[in-house]
Amino acid sequence: MPIVNLFDYEEIARQQLPEHIYDFIAGAADDEISLARNRGAWGEIQLLPRVLVDVSNVDTSTSVLGQKVSAPILLAPVAYQRAAHLEGESATARAAAGSDTIMILSTMATTTIEDVAAAAEGPKWFQLYVYPEREITKRLVQRAEKSGYTALCLTVDVPYLGRRERDLHNLLEFPPGVLPVNFLDDIDLSEHKVQGHGSALAAQAASLISPAITWDDVDWLRSITSLPVLVKGVLAAADAKIAVDHGVAGIVVSNHGARQLDGVPAPIEVLPGVVEAVAGRVPVLVDGGVRRGTDVVKAIALGASAVLIGRPYIWGLAAEGEAGVRRVLAMLRAEFELAMALTGCRSVGEITRDHVRMRPGRAL
Ligand code: FNR
Repeated sequence: MPIVNLFDYEEIARQQLPEHIYDFIAGAADDEISLARNRGAWGEIQLLPRVLVDVSNVDTSTSVLGQKVSAPILLAPVAYQRAAHLEGESATARAAAGSDTIMILSTMATTTIEDVAAAAEGPKWFQLYVYPEREITKRLVQRAEKSGYTALCLTVDVPYLGRRERDLHNLLEFPPGVLPVNFLDDIDLSEHKVQGHGSALAAQAASLISPAITWDDVDWLRSITSLPVLVKGVLAAADAKIAVDHGVAGIVVSNHGARQLDGVPAPIEVLPGVVEAVAGRVPVLVDGGVRRGTDVVKAIALGASAVLIGRPYIWGLAAEGEAGVRRVLAMLRAEFELAMALTGCRSVGEITRDHVRMRPGRAL
């Protein structure tokens, strides 16, 4: 069967991957209520096309933090990519560069900051967790700066790892050598084995990530780097406001792919409130369940500067390595282009709030 959309890649990846690795990627916290919501919420938003606009030329390109991209579709930070494909984060970096978009490298990557930078020249941001030992965090920031990453994306929704029960049932283990290699110089990972956690990921996260970070750490981070700092994992408009007051360069409205606190809203549902609170002072990005070009139009219409995708490109990576990631990006961009044309928008800037409405009976 020909591959025609992002869901097809998930099915191929599901057939190819060991079940526990598929579950690690697909799964989410607790009852996965928010995971279902992340997809379902897009259906509550309707598109309101304008007609008789000459859409013979549609331009999907835009810029994000001054970086030109072929479409407002970025690659979200995803940990442990070598569990999906041997070439892992390097293949993703090449695909992002070849597709003219930004890759956000996870701190919990299985390829070093330097090797990913060497894999491709394209624009990259580095996603950061803050560690109990500030020196370790600082070294990561310095390495990212030195390797040419152009922004830091501080993930703020993981003081503790959410309960991913699929991983607990599977006693999740990664293949030998698939490790968060950016810490190998600083931390003896053999001390962080499964004991008492039931999932290798839970064990590593519990010992690596600080639960004590606050807004002061955002100030601290800004003081040790000249790179723009975005915060990822904001849902409350009040937090978005505080973030802007602390000088962040951008906000990623996200519920971590529903992998942290189950029961939270889908990011797209709270996006309008965040956009209102931020009032244009910094760009607002959104992720969670973006699978269709029409989703991207809806996100932009509701005030996002761009979306991130997580699982879909990992399915592409698992299925076909770099080529699969490229294809996922190409398919989503083509869908976005068609959705723009059918909505009567020739450029990303022409997509406005007037192009969406809520399903009757629903309010944003
Ligand atoms: C993630 N995500 C994530 N986020 C982050 O800030 N740092 C990380 O290391 C990871 N790791 C990670 C691993 C896996 C397997 C998944 C699926 C997700 C969350 C990710 O950046 C993003 O917010 C979501 O994946 C977006 O939702 P979708 O597109 O997967 O629905």
